[in-house]
Amino acid sequence: MIDLKDITRVYLVGEEEVCALDHVTMHVYPGEFVSVIGPSGSGKSTLMNVIGCLDKADAGNYMLDGIPIEYYTENKLAEVRNQKIGFVFQNFNLISNMTVEENIELPLIYRGMKRSERVEKVKEAVAAVGLQSRVHHLPTELSGGQQQRVAIARAIVTKPSLILADEPTGNLDSHTSRDIIEIFKKLNALGNTILLITHDPDVAAEAKRVVRIKDGKISEVTKQ
Ligand SMILES: Nc1ncnc2c1ncn2[C@@H]1O[C@H](COP(=O)(O)OP(=O)(O)OP(=O)(O)O)[C@@H](O)[C@H]1O
Ligand SMILES: [Mg+2]
Repeated sequence: MIDLKDITRVYLVGEEEVCALDHVTMHVYPGEFVSVIGPSGSGKSTLMNVIGCLDKADAGNYMLDGIPIEYYTENKLAEVRNQKIGFVFQNFNLISNMTVEENIELPLIYRGMKRSERVEKVKEAVAAVGLQSRVHHLPTELSGGQQQRVAIARAIVTKPSLILADEPTGNLDSHTSRDIIEIFKKLNALGNTILLITHDPDVAAEAKRVVRIKDGKISEVTKQ
C-alpha cells in the first residue's frame, strides 16, 4: 500500500539545510498496524506529511496503492487524500463552532455525498468510537479523549484505506490513551491499515510492527 524508496526531504532554514528525511525506504502492506517511533525532531511528522500527500519529497519515489503520486497536481492530491486517507492529529483539529455530528460529516460533504447517505455513514462512525450520547455537543463541551474519538470518527467516516495518526495520544492521560489505542486496534482488526506516530514506547508497542526513526533515517524495524 505504501511504498517509499529513498525518500529525502530537506528544509531550507536560511542558509542551512535540515535533512528531515534521509533516504527513507519503507513499505506498509494492506491491513498492517505499524507504529513509527522516534525522538522529537527525528522526522516523524515530515514522514507522515509525505505519506499523507500533504507534502512532497525532494527526492525518491513514493507509490501509494501502486500509483506514483509525485506526478499528481495539488487538486488530484486533495482527491487522493479525501478518498484514501484518514488523518488523526495530536491536537484533534476539530472545528470549534460545529457539533460532533457536523465535524464528522464534513469529509462526506466535500465528497458531494447526498444527505440521507451522509446521515447513515456518520451514525456508523459515531458508533465505532462509542460517542452516540454526544453527537449534538460542541468540541469544547467534550473531554480530550472524547474529542480524539470525534477526530477518529471523522477520519474513518469516508472508509479510507489508510489511517494516519500523528501523536494521537500526545495530549491525553495514560488511561485515555489506552482507550484510544484500543479503538485503533479494533479498526485494524476490521481491516483498516494504520500508521501511528508516537514518541511513547508503550504506545508504539501496541502496534503489530514498530519502525524506528532517528535523524531522518529509519534505523531499525522490529517485528513482533
Ligand atoms: N517547515 C519546516 N521548516 C524547516 N524545518 C522544519 C520544518 N518542519 C520540520 N523541520 C525540521 O525537520 C526536522 C524533523 O521535523 P519533524 O516535525 O518531522 O519532527 P518530529 O519527529 O515530528 O518531531 P516531534 O516529535 O517534536 O513532533 C526537525 O529538525 C525540524 O526542525
Ligand atoms: Mg511531529
